Amino acid sequence: MMMRRMRVLERLEEIYAIGGGPGANRVGDSDGEQRAHDLAAAWMREAGFDVEVDTAGNLIGRMGDSSVWTGSHLDSVPQGGKFDGALGVVAGIEAVERVGAGAVVAFRDEERGCVGSEAFVARGDPLPDFFLELHVEQGPVLALQGAPLGVVTAIAAMARGERVFEGEAGHAGTTPMAGRSDALCAAAEYVLRVRDAAAAIEGAVATVGRIEVEPDAVNVIPGRVRLTVDARAPDRERLDALLQTLGLDIPPMLEPVQMADEPRAALAAEVERLGLPLVELPSGAGHDAAVLAAAGVPTGMLFVRSLNGGISHSPDELSSPEDIDLAVTVLAGAIARLATRAP
Ligand code: HGY
Ligand code: MN
Ligand code: MN
Repeated sequence: MMMRRMRVLERLEEIYAIGGGPGANRVGDSDGEQRAHDLAAAWMREAGFDVEVDTAGNLIGRMGDSSVWTGSHLDSVPQGGKFDGALGVVAGIEAVERVGAGAVVAFRDEERGCVGSEAFVARGDPLPDFFLELHVEQGPVLALQGAPLGVVTAIAAMARGERVFEGEAGHAGTTPMAGRSDALCAAAEYVLRVRDAAAAIEGAVATVGRIEVEPDAVNVIPGRVRLTVDARAPDRERLDALLQTLGLDIPPMLEPVQMADEPRAALAAEVERLGLPLVELPSGAGHDAAVLAAAGVPTGMLFVRSLNGGISHSPDELSSPEDIDLAVTVLAGAIARLATRAP
């Protein structure tokens, strides 16, 4: 079993090395994401999977005829972590190989909007009977509770939008302060409004992650600023209230979804079979699993404890080999359980 654990860790290292650092650099549609897909396809073929790449570029490996699927994504945010997405694909290959039946998918471009999984559910082919996603928690809950693994109950609603602030570009040295129309000052006030609006709603979060200033010169008053907003909440009511406060008339990118009873029960039973504490928790992060669940696929998620305070979307993202080993065992066990349940 040591060899198998080593193989999962070695494969995560190989994927993490793509893009040259710091952190993971495999943004969707980049050469880095493609190289990760090529690696995973080779590992699938080596293990005897039937390998397919669908019209959206999702990588699918099938073994036997079970319609229990697992997987995640191989793209990353810039300077991302070693485990986000990649763990679900690498561990999925390991788990399905152990069970001897099932399917593993690497969805394209999850970080910029679940592009691959949205295309997958829209293509009209029969969807999996069950879908399980193994993912790092990307938060502090499991570590605080001393639990190596967690079974996800629900995935938060998410919306992404942008705002543009128009001002008047002008000379930084000759324009009196009183006469300025500084687009960046207006944007800065809005950024703090985003922070305060989310802080006022229990369970909501909101982030301005990108900002573009024009003409972007040290001695010119900013004439135009464009910024992005990522807003999330455990339910639509709170998400809609947040978006209204922020003046964003946009639909959610992901509806809030509940994980399905059977996959949850299969994961929970495997966690307890190993004598581990059973912690059930919601996901504040978005996942391809949310897209599959919203499309009606009975879906479950297993979280691995995140260390370093739960940091993610950072080179400091960390999970332990021991916890990953336990996760692969639980994932394999749950796949086997659900295979007996698949209609
Ligand atoms: O943004 C998210 O929640 C995920 O990492 N795509
Ligand atoms: Mn992810
Ligand atoms: Mn991510």
